[in-house]
Amino acid sequence: MTSETITTHTTTATAAGSWRLGGLELTRIGYGAMRLAGPNAWGPPPDRYQAVAVLRAAVQAGVTHIDTSDYYGPHVVNDLIREALHPYPENLHIATKVGARRTPDRRWPAALSADELVRAVHDNLTRLSLPALDLVNLRMTSTKSAADIVAPFAVLARLREQGLIRHLGVSNVSTEQVQAAQGIAPVSAVQNHYNIASRRGDALVDWCAEQDIAYVPYYPLGGFRPLQAEALDRVAHELGATARQVALAWLLQRSPNILLIPGTSALAHLRENIAAATLTLPTEALSTLNALTTNAR
Ligand SMILES: NC(=O)c1ccc[n+]([C@@H]2O[C@H](COP(=O)([O-])OP(=O)(O)OC[C@H]3O[C@@H](n4cnc5c(N)ncnc54)[C@H](OP(=O)(O)O)[C@@H]3O)[C@@H](O)[C@H]2O)c1
Repeated sequence: MTSETITTHTTTATAAGSWRLGGLELTRIGYGAMRLAGPNAWGPPPDRYQAVAVLRAAVQAGVTHIDTSDYYGPHVVNDLIREALHPYPENLHIATKVGARRTPDRRWPAALSADELVRAVHDNLTRLSLPALDLVNLRMTSTKSAADIVAPFAVLARLREQGLIRHLGVSNVSTEQVQAAQGIAPVSAVQNHYNIASRRGDALVDWCAEQDIAYVPYYPLGGFRPLQAEALDRVAHELGATARQVALAWLLQRSPNILLIPGTSALAHLRENIAAATLTLPTEALSTLNALTTNAR
């Protein structure tokens, strides 16, 4: 396979298959929209036309899972999604996050009080122009205590009972916190930091698979610190792919409950990432990459 063949523009996200999240079908290759705002997810994009084009291209390429939050911008990314894609195709599912807010100095403090969470859900509904949100992730802070998730998750569970949310997820959480949340309402997704070089989440990935919970790794490409490893480059070269495609293909092969939301503001990168859907890593390449992670943990 050459890089020319795996970056073909006819590749669609559906080639990597999909995951059933309740009654929703999410392509395993989705799109993370955070990068569409300005630097550090703050303010407007440098090129609004380009941001709208990236969103439309993702959907045209078959992506049915877009990850966002009203605190990206703030509001900017949700406004772009509405502008680019509303009225939404029936099969498109937008996942959002609540539990943080932005301050003018661009920090992300927690916003986990009942008032803040209710307001955040309504802000997402309004900005995205939706009657109900398909998936809302409760983003926790650095605390890993099970007790800390109970009150905020119960607030979201009540909003779900009211019909404003279809499915609930949790983010930045420990296994104990997922279990505590499950005691309140079904948990459909976990969104934690995880990638080929950062695998502290290994046990939780496997546990979620047993529980039929989607695991949505954020920073699949390293986030603000791009993945860099000689072995990754070597495998990519051997397969005629790019290192980023190999990193995404590794995640797809890691476990069937992993759903990808790579972020990009560039059309060419979007196409390159989606084309990872057709990349199968042979056993030998997987061994090399698995060894890399052991060293890079
Ligand atoms: N739950 C949480 O706490 C949390 C935290 C962070 C992020 N998230 C979610 O996770 C999603 C993914 O995370 P992320 O965007 O921060 O990190 P990421 O997907 O690991 O990496 C994005 C970075 O990689 C670059 N990139 C993407 N594709 C590329 C390619 N093919 N070639 C070269 N560079 C490429 C992007 O730059 P370009 O724009 O130039 O392509 C951007 O700088 C976000 O969109 C967001 O929805 C959630």
